Amino acid sequence: MKLQPVRGTQDYTPDVCQSFRWIDQTALQLAQRYGFEEFDTPIFEFSEVFHRTLGETSDMVSKETYNFKDRGDEALTLRPEGTAGIARAFITGGMAQNLPLKFYYSGPMFRYERPQKGRYRQFHQLGVEYLGSESPFADVECISLAWELIKKLQLTDKSVIEINSLGDKESREKHKALFVEYLQKFKNDLSDESKIRLEKNPLRILDSKSESDQKIVQDSPSLQNCLNDQSKKFYSTVLSSLEKLNISFKENTKLVRGIDYYCHTVFEIFTTHLGAQGALIAGGRYDGLIELMGGPKTPGVGWASGLERLNLLVNPELVQQKNQWNAVIAADETAAMECLALAEKLRQKNRFVEYLYSGNMGKKMKKADKLGCDLVYIIGENELKNNQVTVKNLKDGTQKLVSLSDI
Ligand code: HAM
Repeated sequence: MKLQPVRGTQDYTPDVCQSFRWIDQTALQLAQRYGFEEFDTPIFEFSEVFHRTLGETSDMVSKETYNFKDRGDEALTLRPEGTAGIARAFITGGMAQNLPLKFYYSGPMFRYERPQKGRYRQFHQLGVEYLGSESPFADVECISLAWELIKKLQLTDKSVIEINSLGDKESREKHKALFVEYLQKFKNDLSDESKIRLEKNPLRILDSKSESDQKIVQDSPSLQNCLNDQSKKFYSTVLSSLEKLNISFKENTKLVRGIDYYCHTVFEIFTTHLGAQGALIAGGRYDGLIELMGGPKTPGVGWASGLERLNLLVNPELVQQKNQWNAVIAADETAAMECLALAEKLRQKNRFVEYLYSGNMGKKMKKADKLGCDLVYIIGENELKNNQVTVKNLKDGTQKLVSLSDI
């Protein structure tokens, strides 16, 4: 039996856990200033929660979900992302009365993707979902929050916001008709995958990795030219509001995103410092999603970010928490129990305490020094007799006897 982590999964060592917690806390504290509250959904849901909503033909559903039957023969899926679960919770929790709602979430997600740097099969997302606002300002506030996070993580030099509009349903349908008509001429030259997409989800052909597909779509009718007045107005309000907030962005008319539920604004915060997996934060507006799932018509906008990717870029010095350690040492066996109790007492006074009980006195003092301890508490036979403790200050070399009851 080979004892290894499953491909695409990894163990999270203390330094990574510390970094994740710091990033998560930083993001949550920022999100709270925008009115977002923490929300959590189950790690697995009925498969249909994801399958219909993310799009049966999207890569995520067709190739990447972890599907299984439980012992009750229920078809379940490990969540590949957070938005569909939150939309499901919104419907089942009957939350339509209290709009708008703003949720922050963070946790593990699962996708059967080809693992590489920044792309894993179990990964962690933190994200926000803003439900119940049709205003373009909701999009802007979400993007602004994402950018504030990038600022706090000191990654602005490495990141750029890319943005596009997919327009409303009417605009997308107008574009789809022209796009499909255009592609008919090239039908036989398209990649196999794009041939399927032409039938089921043509817009995703814009996202194709195949060079010949990319050439074909280069001169295709643009979605931008199909936006109706309402969609144009929505998009221009988003862009001019970002300008008002001094947030720089790059328009990318090829940005369509890999999930079906989007409309109007889509955006990614992109870096060139992670190789192929450059999206640090990604999201957009999904006005039709909750209705598609059988809920009341409720607009939504949000984004999610991969913690593993952020962690690869964040400077560890920003994260490291430097605690001042104390050590407790028993000079001989008789004092061992008293030392255990003293260590506990110091911890209850909020100190960081290492009770060193292996090795001789010299070894223990060396360990205390290595830990960077300022104070070492030593109890031996004499101290024990007098209910005292020797407190040695390793910084200035002084020491004094203190009554145990004065600690
Ligand atoms: P997404 O683009 O699929 O969108 O994922 C969002 C982010 O999660 C990516 O930009 C990336 O940082 C991270 N990510 C995705 N897949 C992996 C992976 N296999 N390994 C490591 N990191 C990964 C969504 O998930 C949407 N739910 C975002 C959203 C929220 N849209 C509206 N609201």
